[in-house]
Amino acid sequence: LASIQYDVGPIAEGQSVTIMWRGLPVFVRHRTAAEISEAQAVPLSDLKDPETDEARTKPGHEQWLIMIANCTHLGCIPVGESGDFDGWFCPCHGSHYDSAGRIRRGPAPKNLVVPPYEFLSDTLVQIG
Ligand code: FES
Repeated sequence: LASIQYDVGPIAEGQSVTIMWRGLPVFVRHRTAAEISEAQAVPLSDLKDPETDEARTKPGHEQWLIMIANCTHLGCIPVGESGDFDGWFCPCHGSHYDSAGRIRRGPAPKNLVVPPYEFLSDTLVQIG
C-alpha cells in the first residue's frame, strides 16, 4: 500500500511506537512539552542540517514527531530516549539526534527523514 492510516490516540505522552510503511520502519513519538520547547529553542546555526522544529511537525500537532527510523549515515535504527540531545542515538557509529530528530553530532549527514503525512482528525494520521 502506498499510504497507511494509523491512530496515534493510544500512544501516551513520552512514548513512541515503530510502525511499518512501504517496508520502512517509522517512528511515531508523542513528545513531551519539554522535548518540544527544547527542540524549538535550538538556533538553526547549531544544526548541521538546518531545519526548524516547525518544519518537521504539523501545526496544531507539534507533539507528534513522525520519521523514518533509519539513521541517515548507513541505515541502522537509532535508539530512542537516548543520546546527548534528548532524542535518539545510533549505536552503529555514534550519531546523536535531538528531540526533533535532527542530527546534532556524529557521522550522519542529515536529519531523520520526515515522510509525507497528514492528520485526518485529531489522532488519525495518514502516512504516504
Ligand atoms: Fe547510524 Fe552509522 S548508521 S551512525
